[in-house]
Amino acid sequence: MEEPKISTNSITEKGSSYKRWIASEGIPIIEGFFIKDIREVPLELWKRTGGLATRICLEGTGETNDAYICEIPPGKALEPQKHMFEELIYIVSGRGATTVWNDGEPKHTFEWQEGSIFSPPLNSWHQHFNGNGAEPARYLAVTTAPCMINLIHNIDFIFNCDYVFRDRFDSQTDYFNNPGTWYAGRVWQTNFVADVRNLKLLDWKERGGGGSQVRLEISENTLCGHVSEFPVGTYKKAHFHGPGAHVIILSGQGYSLLWPKGQPIKRYDWGPGSLVVPPGGWFHQHFNSGAEPVRYLALRWGSQKYHEMWGEQRGKSDVDVKLGGNQIEYEDEDPSVRQMFEEACVKAGVKNLMEKYYKKST
Ligand SMILES: [Fe+2]
Repeated sequence: MEEPKISTNSITEKGSSYKRWIASEGIPIIEGFFIKDIREVPLELWKRTGGLATRICLEGTGETNDAYICEIPPGKALEPQKHMFEELIYIVSGRGATTVWNDGEPKHTFEWQEGSIFSPPLNSWHQHFNGNGAEPARYLAVTTAPCMINLIHNIDFIFNCDYVFRDRFDSQTDYFNNPGTWYAGRVWQTNFVADVRNLKLLDWKERGGGGSQVRLEISENTLCGHVSEFPVGTYKKAHFHGPGAHVIILSGQGYSLLWPKGQPIKRYDWGPGSLVVPPGGWFHQHFNSGAEPVRYLALRWGSQKYHEMWGEQRGKSDVDVKLGGNQIEYEDEDPSVRQMFEEACVKAGVKNLMEKYYKKST
């Protein structure tokens, strides 16, 4: 058999299909582990939408999902969009409305404000309007663009596919205003959250620190979310899961510790508007060292309904590592964790209330 002739060109594309797409869109990208304040991030014109934007692909996503921030100028609308990736939207500031429709079918319009959460169903048309003529409206969206673009690597298909996903959205008139359904395990299936800052949460003892939570299943997505709150003078237990959980601080002050097992710890101090994405398999732990309860929103993989392969390891994230789970109980944590928290409380002038949770745990 003859030896094959070897091409002198490299077969390797430069960077991932997703990263090359961002470069071709002409907008900036933010990488790293942490953003101090998503309300202050500078944005540049994004011709595709007519708004100002930046893409965000933090280390902790493992390029499975990503986020972007987009601002709609005062009194203006963005261009209509549709795409073959999911998009979970959180309104950072401002108020306005969104119209959603399938080609040739009735349009549905609903209003939103700071704190609203919703998701245009996969590949449906959607258009966002800023309802305020004096102020911009800013939103952050977590999307499945990286995995979809990297697998399909055809941008025309991603943005110009005509398939209508009727199993997700069949032009139901009450799609964005029905009350949804509650399920066991603090799960609310809904297509619209009016204001996540005021959502009533339910007790979640297993994660410790007097915390409460609600899980959100939205628009038949594989992406999902949850809202958590924990009191002054407390912190939650360390745990790990898969990549891509975008944690956005809604209120309160504190810090998170992130570390791969047996390796040095990274600390990020945060406040309202901060965004952190713990990498897959890394332990992470959230601490309230401020004078008010901490509430945060996580937009992430790990839907209770639609399982994928890299999200939360179901049923393990709040189970003791000694029992085969992914959580470190208080009695097993490194003494430096407690010491650091005590010092943070003293510095902030708040009382450390962890003693009763340490006792409960043992
Ligand atoms: Fe987590």
